[in-house]
Amino acid sequence: MPKVAIIGAGNVGSLAAMRIVEEAIADVVLIDIAKDIAKGKSLDLEDSLSVFRVDSKIKSTEDFSQVKDADVIVITAGFPRKPGMTREDLLNKNVEIIKDVALKIKSLNSKAVIIILTNPVDLMTQVFYKITNFDARKVIGLGASLDSARFANLISQELNVPVSKIDALVVGVHGKGMLPLARFTKVGGKILADLLDEKKINELTEATVSRGATIVAHLGSGSAYFAPSAAISEMVKAIIRDENKKTVASVKLNGEYGLKDIFIGVPVRLGKSGIKNIIELKLNSQEKDLFLKAAEELRKCTISV
Ligand code: LAC
Repeated sequence: MPKVAIIGAGNVGSLAAMRIVEEAIADVVLIDIAKDIAKGKSLDLEDSLSVFRVDSKIKSTEDFSQVKDADVIVITAGFPRKPGMTREDLLNKNVEIIKDVALKIKSLNSKAVIIILTNPVDLMTQVFYKITNFDARKVIGLGASLDSARFANLISQELNVPVSKIDALVVGVHGKGMLPLARFTKVGGKILADLLDEKKINELTEATVSRGATIVAHLGSGSAYFAPSAAISEMVKAIIRDENKKTVASVKLNGEYGLKDIFIGVPVRLGKSGIKNIIELKLNSQEKDLFLKAAEELRKCTISV
């Protein structure tokens, strides 16, 4: 059975563990310094597997060396937003966590595919890459696939079309520079930009960009976890089962979109070795301007490590 290590046993980490073991995608080890909470969650989760007659294994530990033989390592550790905060506000606090985790992983396992959720995710993914110097195809930030799911849901509500009929695409930064793309979003095979006027599309775009903050405001403490954990398990499955799946992720660009040495959300194909290839969309000049502007803003926040 493949093995997934999840660092951070908070809501996102433990729900991702639940989805991965329930679907028998892999065995999971939950790693957290708060070892008792992680232990309580993993014991509870373990009990649930007999209900589903699933033989996956779940365990928890504070011992970081357990990442050693993992095929995929998911990093959720870090501070979440509080109401009123942007993801960018977390930069200084979370960079120290990512640096520490990156150094530890570097010394233990340079083969695994790494999925990072810690915010601000595009920048944290870049920091992880700079510290480890791992193969960039194996260092992946998760944000845009979650944003695409949110966009799809909001379109489904607006048009009263089943969400299963919607292929939504959001690229750019998992933050202010998020770019829902109406021309590349399909509703029952039709292009969204042909179904709604600009004003409505702008409203859906706004709602998508602020969806995470809207959820944080309602929860009062902590941030979203159901959709983020769903996005993790889909990504882990695509890697473990070598699906060559088309998705969106924050990856290192190497000349694509005219950009280099930046991690930002773009469409990719995902499989066993991580990013198989980056898909270059034919953006029009307005979309391209917005994408480049988002990249420029992101660069301004880049941290030297
Ligand atoms: C969110 C966090 C995961 O968007 O960034 O809910």
